[in-house]
Amino acid sequence: MMLSLPIASVQLTEVAQELSVSLATVRNWIKTGKIVALSSSTIDATSYVDFKKNTIGTQKLNKRANKTQTQVAQQLSLVTHLAIESISANGDELSLLYEQSLSNTIQNVKGIYYTPLHIVADMFTHLPVDSINAYTTFCDPCCGTGNFLLGAVDAGISPGKISGFDIDPQAIQIAQNRFFQKTGYFSPNIQCVDSVKAYLLKNTPPQNYDIVMTNPPWGKNPIKPYTTLLPSKILPDACILFTELCLSLVKQEGLLGLLLPDAYFNIASFQSIRTRLLTKKLLVLLDYGKPFKGLQARAEAIILQNKALQKATLEETVTCIWEKQKTNRKQQSFLEQPEHIFNFHITQQEEDALQHVLSKPYETLKNKAAWGMGIVTGDNQQYVSSIQTEDYTIPVYKGADIKQQGLIALNQQFLKPQFQQFQQVAPLHLYQAPKKIVYRFISDSLRFALDDQQRFFLNSANFFILEKNLGIKDAILVHYLNSRFMNWVFKSLYRTHKVLRKDLEQLPLFLDFLTDCTVFDEQALHHYLDITEQPDGTFRLKRTYS
Ligand SMILES: C[S@@+](CC[C@H](N)C(=O)[O-])C[C@H]1O[C@@H](n2cnc3c(N)ncnc32)[C@H](O)[C@@H]1O
Repeated sequence: MMLSLPIASVQLTEVAQELSVSLATVRNWIKTGKIVALSSSTIDATSYVDFKKNTIGTQKLNKRANKTQTQVAQQLSLVTHLAIESISANGDELSLLYEQSLSNTIQNVKGIYYTPLHIVADMFTHLPVDSINAYTTFCDPCCGTGNFLLGAVDAGISPGKISGFDIDPQAIQIAQNRFFQKTGYFSPNIQCVDSVKAYLLKNTPPQNYDIVMTNPPWGKNPIKPYTTLLPSKILPDACILFTELCLSLVKQEGLLGLLLPDAYFNIASFQSIRTRLLTKKLLVLLDYGKPFKGLQARAEAIILQNKALQKATLEETVTCIWEKQKTNRKQQSFLEQPEHIFNFHITQQEEDALQHVLSKPYETLKNKAAWGMGIVTGDNQQYVSSIQTEDYTIPVYKGADIKQQGLIALNQQFLKPQFQQFQQVAPLHLYQAPKKIVYRFISDSLRFALDDQQRFFLNSANFFILEKNLGIKDAILVHYLNSRFMNWVFKSLYRTHKVLRKDLEQLPLFLDFLTDCTVFDEQALHHYLDITEQPDGTFRLKRTYS
């Protein structure tokens, strides 16, 4: 998208410096029409941003991905730096331009994805009715270019009662400009502040707010500066750190809204923060799909009230919204899930069926198996070939070769056995075990197969070897793990495209049913579990259905 900005020029010398190229190279880009010159020494800023994004964004900037955060920060666009100094620039366009100018690399490293305005607006609509009045105070402690601050204005919060902080001075300048353009009020409450240092680590909240709402940085990288300073109970993840920050900023009985990656809601390492949130009154859980270009993670939101729970409140319902569906779940039901996962994408009927089957006696794979990962060569071009030669001797399989019918390699590949050179390789005796059960690591559904030929696998396939005799035949276990029932259980609990060992170790193995099996019969399993399959692949309790 070409944007027209009032001051949209940048010096040739600055471009050369930023991209570490010679002036001659920059002139060559002008000659070949890649960027547009405004004069002999200046370049049209918009064409430069497009050029960085489309032409060199994936090449040159990616090569810099390993640089330190400070170096990465220095790469922030000169163009936007110049443009944002203009109060007259269109703030919304500038915000978009600024976000575009953060290359994918920087976005990933720093976890910076500004929240789309429709999501901001939607999150405000899920606050309880009457929660906003003339006195309501609001804060986004990492406000970026101000999307939530503008959302707060639209939701009816008085501009003088809205605060926004961010560590990025350029983003703050854009936020101030946008806020001024929208309200005519130049807010002293939108400030460049390291909120973590100022309000969490020093434990001196500026004041408590009625509503705190934000999309914090995601991932481990944004938190690196604080890792040594953090209390040990806080895991080194930005979402957890900013949840703690927001909880320290929101008033007792106040409201907190957070947009977070799906992992926060469903993977084991986030259990402690989920357990903490379950001590508050949860109001709404929302799934916004995958709104961030280039990110695999889903964005999901939680809205809660900062109010210690009475036992009775656990019986109250949480509104769950996903893919145009809306259900009510008892808050208690999340406490009953393994690792307190917030599996809010299932109906109360599915939840009842799940709790029913999990109330039967079962074993799990935990401490019963040795686990191994597929090989990561680090350079498949060098170490993997589709032709078997003197060098490429070992047939190797991928996750895609694990099919419902078994292991089928349509494009068989061969490995150069230079195991010491590989980035990741399990102890060789694990690949060479007489029997192992392999599974696709990246997959929306469970795909398992039995390997009794000591095969090698690449990293899209992982495996386990049963160490304890559970009394289940290997082939039966494979059928069971691939079954429609287990796929439903897995999806109901985790709803992820990554099949993680920790999750597999939680899955129920109903020995009373499985140890007697000589042929796996899916219908007999449903009968044993007292559940019926629905046309959409979900399950319900037999008695509620009949
Ligand atoms: C994912 S972006 C979201 C921005 C904004 N809340 C939104 O939803 O559009 C996260 C923001 O956190 C900011 N940030 C990171 N560390 C911070 C810190 N210690 N203090 C304040 N802001 C911080 C980043 O600069 C970035 O603008």
